[in-house]
Amino acid sequence: MSMSNVLVTGGAGYIGSHCVRQLLGQGWRAVVLDDFSTGFKDLLISDEWVEGSTLDKRRVKQILRDYDISAVMHFAACAYVGESVENPEKYYENNVQGTLRLLSAMREEGVNQFIFSSSCATYGVPNQLPLTEDHPLNPVNPYGFTKRVVEQMLADFSVAYDLNYVSLRYFNAAGADPGGQLGECHDPETHLIPLILQVATGERENITVFGTDYDTKDGTCVRDYIHINDIGKAHLLALKYLQGGGTSDVFNIGTEVGNTVREVILACEKVTGKSITMVVGERRPGDPPALVASAEKIRRILKWEPEYTDLESIVETAWAWEQKRTQVLSETAG
Ligand code: UFG
Repeated sequence: MSMSNVLVTGGAGYIGSHCVRQLLGQGWRAVVLDDFSTGFKDLLISDEWVEGSTLDKRRVKQILRDYDISAVMHFAACAYVGESVENPEKYYENNVQGTLRLLSAMREEGVNQFIFSSSCATYGVPNQLPLTEDHPLNPVNPYGFTKRVVEQMLADFSVAYDLNYVSLRYFNAAGADPGGQLGECHDPETHLIPLILQVATGERENITVFGTDYDTKDGTCVRDYIHINDIGKAHLLALKYLQGGGTSDVFNIGTEVGNTVREVILACEKVTGKSITMVVGERRPGDPPALVASAEKIRRILKWEPEYTDLESIVETAWAWEQKRTQVLSETAG
């Protein structure tokens, strides 16, 4: 199989940058397209990058031609659930329209391999756990809807046109590359693990737990925290799968283990050796009580296995990064 050139949209973001590192590490050429609205120039691993948006179809077509791109990994998206409720237009424009223009550019340039960053947010409130890929898609917020719409777009395009895709439904991306140069950073930060670790560093005073009255083992929400490098590994396997003639498909990426918010706080206390002050808050609108993946399909078809299978080992990598973050990131997003 020949190594070819991959366009990585959103390659300066948390998940995209980790995937770029793995692509380059395995000998692929990775060209990043990022508008730096939420990405960071300090997270650019590839020397080859273009500042721009997928909404700019003419620009995207030019990049596909200039760099002789044969596959696209599409990470660029807005990804705040709360913001998507307040400003759905931004989400439909960037996530749906941006993807439509990207796919249209690919079609016109004859690029037909696509790997999509989807989300467990497409499922909504589960009927049963663990979630398998055939579970109905009933998202409970506009963010989840935009991902669901794109999945439908991909299914329709693959029937009508020459498009082969893999859609990867991430559960809760967490942790950092142990190398220390990459890690999680959002501005503003809303994700649980970095917020807890920022209490440990003293950057924040406490962590508010969004609801302690859920029907779960300790009353707090359950999530499946999956290490960022295991997500990256799934992308590389998906790319090889498509290059080897694999048919379009959808896969969950998760550890198949659910952890409550309290368990995450305890793991962070253990790893950091600091006590974390916890404040009980209201439920956050749009939060499903529990989301846990079945990863049976991706294991079986892509031969993917997670390297990080316990929460503490994931938190250890996140903690190593959190202590370096302000040195690595000299700027803020935007
Ligand atoms: N949580 C708190 N306090 C906080 C932050 C989070 O209790 O200050 C809880 C949440 O209620 C949730 C869990 O911690 O139960 C994890 O919350 P995150 O915000 O870290 O992540 P989400 O589970 O909301 O992730 C969702 C989707 C992803 C999507 C992501 C977008 O599941 O697919 O939002 O940012 F990508």
